[in-house]
Amino acid sequence: MVQLTLPKNSRPRKGKVWPRPRMENGKRMRRMKDFRIYRYDPQSGENPRIDNYGVDLSTCGPMVLDALIKIKNEIDPTLTFRRSCREGVCGSCAMNIGGGNTLACTKAISDISGSVHVYPLPHMPVVKDLVPDMTNFYAQYSSIGPYLRTKTAEPEKEWRQTPEDRDKLNGLYECILCACCSTSCPSYWWNSERYLGPAALLQSFRWIADSRDECTGERLDDLQDPFRLYRCHTIMNCAETCPKGLNPARAIGKIKQMLVKRSI
Ligand code: SF4
Ligand code: SF4
Ligand code: FES
Repeated sequence: MVQLTLPKNSRPRKGKVWPRPRMENGKRMRRMKDFRIYRYDPQSGENPRIDNYGVDLSTCGPMVLDALIKIKNEIDPTLTFRRSCREGVCGSCAMNIGGGNTLACTKAISDISGSVHVYPLPHMPVVKDLVPDMTNFYAQYSSIGPYLRTKTAEPEKEWRQTPEDRDKLNGLYECILCACCSTSCPSYWWNSERYLGPAALLQSFRWIADSRDECTGERLDDLQDPFRLYRCHTIMNCAETCPKGLNPARAIGKIKQMLVKRSI
């Protein structure tokens, strides 16, 4: 049965208010911003808590990731989060900021009025603090066969593609697998074990749309399933939240069209 309220041991409680930095003369900093950050260690046996950190923006970079790094370096080294490229290309800093899923490294602090609320991506198991467990997400990605599958003999040099066919991959190949879309999708929240979710389906269409791939039929067969594909109800949260401006719902719609066409 669907559980509509958080289990008792998942409800966040009020956390620690960390000491605010002060100027050398003891005065408070002028450009102080509050960051309310989800803290959780499943091994502690304690409920999650929301800690409050004050950051002086005059000594901090412009993005939310800059503030998280500053907090970790200068206030609380136990704060845990993922990041790598700092340029919006690796997808590892995806989290829920100000109520929306996005990348901490490309989300400007100045875009958020009032306190900055930072949570892990929703509806995923939490490894620690802002780090979600992506095991199921990656297994689903792996299940769509995210690589060129061919049947004819290998060409001597390379699999060629016309510029027009290459253009058909625009809006698909740019996906960085950050999972912002899948974890904003209500259908995925309720059926993440069986519904592939927008990210894996966009990736699936990326290979279906590739003129060099020779397994379109098999790929469509794999998706002809009431759960793997058809749990998408075109709610469009995925397109709304994608930090790369992609539209997984459109890709899902195109897969559905292809399935309808081949059944006529
Ligand atoms: S359009 Fe489909 S995949 Fe996107 S959020 Fe809605 S149900 Fe999920
Ligand atoms: S489609 Fe967008 S939101 Fe979804 S995983 Fe790819 S880059 Fe992230
Ligand atoms: S650190 Fe790579 S996308 Fe943010």
